[in-house]
Amino acid sequence: MAGMNYEEMKAELQKRLKPGRFRHSLGVADTAVFLARRFGVDEEKARVAGLLHDCAREFPNDALIEEAARRGIAVEPLERSMPLLLHAYIGAERAKEIYGVEDAEICQAIYRHTVGGGNMTPLDKIIWYADMIEPNRDYPEVEHLRRLAREASLDEMVLVGLSESIVFVVRKGHLVHPATVQARNEILLAQEARDSQVMD
Ligand SMILES: [Fe+2]
Ligand SMILES: [Fe+2]
Repeated sequence: MAGMNYEEMKAELQKRLKPGRFRHSLGVADTAVFLARRFGVDEEKARVAGLLHDCAREFPNDALIEEAARRGIAVEPLERSMPLLLHAYIGAERAKEIYGVEDAEICQAIYRHTVGGGNMTPLDKIIWYADMIEPNRDYPEVEHLRRLAREASLDEMVLVGLSESIVFVVRKGHLVHPATVQARNEILLAQEARDSQVMD
């Protein structure tokens, strides 16, 4: 359905998600708007991407694999091992199909919201980060990450977030997605390049 307004998207999403997931989505939308304002990113795109980032969580895990296969989305060994990753890729398509989102930047931010990616745009970064720190999140490092959201630069903040999330999955003995490593490496390399310019 094309051309839904924000309230219509919200109502549709509420019908499809469990209450806790819907609340989380509203939290990510609000946090994404806050970050968009701080970092000069389009607030409306941030609001919509934040609201819809988890729209494919209406599917249980086994349905995500079927849904990906049906859509011709490649299911690599990593995704087969962690089918939940697929909700990001499927969500990017569902945002268009169900909610009428035609904006490629919004769909990309949804696509990348779980594991990041190479060449992340500021919108990709703030959706990825908002997902970690929205007000319903509760884990030991979250207050530190929220403080960075108020005080650090965009890349400083996202770099710490990427590092924390890699350390977290490694400690749990889980797989690390190469897209997350790539995102972190790129920010570090860009930082090094800037630092060496300052020294020249
Ligand atoms: Fe998600
Ligand atoms: Fe989420």
